[in-house]
Order: sequence, then structure tokens, then C-alpha cells
Amino acid sequence: MQHIPVLYQEVLDLLKPVPGGLYLDGTLGAGGHARGVLKASSPDGKVVGLDRDPHALEIAKQNLAEFGERVIYINDSYRNFQSHLNNLNWQCVDGILLDLGISSMQLAKPERGFSFREDGPLDMRFDPDQPLTAADLVNELTREELAEILFTYGEEKLARKIADAIIANRPLVGTKDLAEIVKKVARNPKSKIHPATRTFQALRIAVNQELDALEAFLPEALESLNAGGRLAIIAFHSLEDRIVKRFFRLESRDCICPPQVPICVCGHKARLKELTRRPIRPEESEINRNPRARSAKLRVAEKIF
Ligand SMILES: C[S@@+](CC[C@H](N)C(=O)[O-])C[C@H]1O[C@@H](n2cnc3c(N)ncnc32)[C@H](O)[C@@H]1O
Repeated sequence: MQHIPVLYQEVLDLLKPVPGGLYLDGTLGAGGHARGVLKASSPDGKVVGLDRDPHALEIAKQNLAEFGERVIYINDSYRNFQSHLNNLNWQCVDGILLDLGISSMQLAKPERGFSFREDGPLDMRFDPDQPLTAADLVNELTREELAEILFTYGEEKLARKIADAIIANRPLVGTKDLAEIVKKVARNPKSKIHPATRTFQALRIAVNQELDALEAFLPEALESLNAGGRLAIIAFHSLEDRIVKRFFRLESRDCICPPQVPICVCGHKARLKELTRRPIRPEESEINRNPRARSAKLRVAEKIF
């Protein structure tokens, strides 16, 4: 299954890679966006590409082979990117990209446990060496803990009902088991999405601690950009997009004192300029070509100092 990069041209137009530039792709995947960055920064721009999934890195290495040593592949979470830049003696970079979430290759492999359409183990780990899997959460958490995850990370209104159904059917083994259980209690004829979509999203976020990684990453990304460097993030659900939006808003304001404080005492200075006040969404034509793009939202900001 070929992964088609989402909002490809929009990312490149806003990231504006230049020859000789240094770039960080924190979610390398199949290297689709990285390829564009490498081409635009020819002949000597470089990309450090991280991915938690070693299988993704193998695919990226094949896809980007022609760029040789201009790409550095690292099997780690983007939340640890700073130590890798330090090891490479890169003080700062000129552009940073995160294309969050899951790739078509990961979704297409039932054995990874991300898909409710085919049967596979309840896994959902990006990093196969991580001990915690979705099966651990589904089979071991209390009703309250499960409901909290489904409600918070899946924005699932029926979180308690689904948690009860999961607990009544333990132990769950496969993704189909889980999808069928959720379908029975959460069927909504008016909804366009599969009833298990939110449950799978919530468990995947919890297994991979996706929101924690993003929260930890943003301030460090700002520190690691050169002045004039750009930070581009593609989010696929409102929880991620909200984190990015809040961070961009906060860092593009001079004062962040509460409104009741009459004179600024915080001394905060804007360090980012938002280049996308509203997130960029894919055109209908892109969604038709690549349905995975449907929920994508791109936000880009430029570092001022
Ligand atoms: C949507 S894909 C990226 C696709 C890529 N932009 C392309 O065009 O080929 C997201 C990738 O991010 C990886 N990923 C998810 N969370 C990560 C994290 N915290 N650190 C590094 N990689 C992560 C996933 O394993 C997946 O390969």
C-alpha cells in the first residue's frame, strides 16, 4: 500500500526549503514530504528523519535512497529529537515538519492492530519494542479508566456504555472482537463514520501517548529553529489541532498576562508569527484522490527570534 503525502504542495510552499538548509521531519513515514524537502533544498540541503516505527524507516530508506547522505534516519520518537540534533552537532534547523498519526502502510497491515476493518491483534503500537499494547488497556483497565480514555482521546459520548461492554466481554483478543462489541452498543444510523472509529482513535492515542509527545515537542521545536525557520504541523483530529493552535497563539502574542492584569507583568515576547490563522484543509480533489486527507489540518508558523 502506497502512502500518499497529505497537503504535499501546501507544506512545501509554506516550509520553503532552500539549498543548504537543515530540516527535521519528525514523522518520516514513507518519506513522501521529506522527498519534496530534499528536492527543493537541492543540491545540499539535509533532512533528519525520525520515526518510532522501524518498518516505516526501512520503506523511507528505499524511497529516499537517491538522496544518499543528505538524509539521516533515526528510529526514535520525535519528542527526543533534540538529543539527536545535539549528536549531529546541529544547533538549529531551518524547518520542522510533523505529519501526525498513522500511515497507509500501518493501517493496511492487520497485524499492527490499527484497523477495525480487518482482524488483527489488539496492538496499535508505533514502536513494536514498547511493552504496552491496546490489549493491555482493553483487558486490564478499570471501567472508569477506560471510559476516561474513550471520552478524552476519542471524544466519544458513549464512553461509559462502551467501557461496560468491553468489560463484560473480557478478555478481548482481536480488533474485530472490539469493533463488533462497540458496534453493538454505539451504532448510529445517522453517523457517516464506523461506530468504532472513536474507540480505535482513543486507544491508539493512549497506547502511543501521542498528545503528551506533541505537548513536549512544541516548545523544544521552537527553541531548535533558526530565526526565520518554519514549523509545519499536520493534525488529523481536533485534540492535536487544538494543542498546536494554542501553542501558536500563545507564542505569537507579546503579553500573556490574564485579562484582569492592567499592566503587563509577564514580559512575554512573541517568538512566532502564524502564517496560517486558519488551518489549511485539503481541496475536494485531494480528498477524492486520497480519502485519508479528509480530516487533515495544516498549521505553519515562522520563528521571529
Ligand atoms: C502520517 S505518517 C507520515 C507520512 C510522511 N509524512 C510521508 O509523507 O510519507 C506518520 C508517521 O509518524 C510516525 N509516528 C507517530 N508518532 C511518532 C512519534 N512520536 N515519533 C516519531 N514518529 C512517529 C508513524 O509511525 C508514521 O510512520
